[in-house]
Amino acid sequence: MFDPFPALRPLLHRLDPETAHELTLRALESGLVPAQPRDDDPILATRLFGREATNPIGLAAGFDKDGRVYEKMHAQGFGFVEIGGITPRAQRGNPRPRVFRLPEDGAVINRMGFPNGGADALAARLAKKGSGWIPLGINLAANADSADPADDFVQLAERFAAYADFLTLDVSCPNTANGQVFLDPVCLAEMLDRLDAVAWPARRPKYAAKLAPDIDDALLERLVGVLLAHRIDALIVSNTTRARDGVHDPRAAAEAGGLSGRPLFARSTAMLARVREIAGEGVTLIGVGGVASGADAYAKIRAGASAVQLYTGLVYGGTALITRIKRELGQLLRRDGFGSVEEARAGGTSASRPVLS
Ligand SMILES: Cc1cc2nc3c(=O)[nH]c(=O)nc-3n(C[C@H](O)[C@H](O)[C@H](O)COP(=O)(O)O)c2cc1C
Repeated sequence: MFDPFPALRPLLHRLDPETAHELTLRALESGLVPAQPRDDDPILATRLFGREATNPIGLAAGFDKDGRVYEKMHAQGFGFVEIGGITPRAQRGNPRPRVFRLPEDGAVINRMGFPNGGADALAARLAKKGSGWIPLGINLAANADSADPADDFVQLAERFAAYADFLTLDVSCPNTANGQVFLDPVCLAEMLDRLDAVAWPARRPKYAAKLAPDIDDALLERLVGVLLAHRIDALIVSNTTRARDGVHDPRAAAEAGGLSGRPLFARSTAMLARVREIAGEGVTLIGVGGVASGADAYAKIRAGASAVQLYTGLVYGGTALITRIKRELGQLLRRDGFGSVEEARAGGTSASRPVLS
């Protein structure tokens, strides 16, 4: 399959990251990026939020904030796509520049602060494009100037429940003051109580909550406890980090914001394993942070994830990376004698249960 990204990358990377991203979105929107063949290896089939995805590799939130290209990204090979973060009202986010590439580290630092076109525009787009045929998540966040951030989540959940397979409560954004409110377990519990009080005409939506990697173990236990007590369906581990471990470029490291990509891999994978220990089997985990190969995705699955997501890997590898990750993941599952992603996550149920080297 012809991949134009290696030729285009030097040009794109000469541009400011947000300009390059906007060009990428426009190229996808206008059909300039050829779709990848959708012939996923059956070993990758994964059940997520009650429906079948042909593979467990998902697009992480932030790439398609306004739902402009979710069906095009699905056609690039993702098994599921998360759009957003979306806030009730449109907002501009933090002043530019606010996204920085760290090519030496395969990383990005961003302090975007949720620029997005708001709930009305997204709802109109979803109604027009249609949803339901792609496993879709919508990432929800409070407006930066909201006087009642919990109410923002309730409004958004009511608005978008019908469109999505899951609604992600982003309670871990490092870049806005309102992103930090729900790191307080009491505030989190209050917000979840308010969501529980909504009278749904049909079934309650499925919720995921996205966790921050920059919290200590005691707080993590409390937050996970609150989330499970409110029957949250999935935990997404993790958001970007304020830490700068493993970053080689001191100038880039000095930029404020959340770090993603390769330096986040070890931290977010260790946190995933810890969340599995705390939460037990009662909740689905989605692993995100620094995935750039099939081995990375496999490590997240072995740490307890039923599915993985990525964003920064695409900045350096383009969408051909999705096909490579799927191929390598299939090979690793077979190498170790697993018949499915779920079997690998659970530790192996077949007679050929592996000894991991
Ligand atoms: C530019 C940028 C914008 C992001 N915006 C959001 C967002 O709006 N909501 C959210 O939950 N996560 C957001 N994220 C975090 C990603 O979804 C993901 O959790 C994080 O980048 C780690 O994955 P990665 O290393 O594969 O990028 C953003 C990440 C980047 C790089």
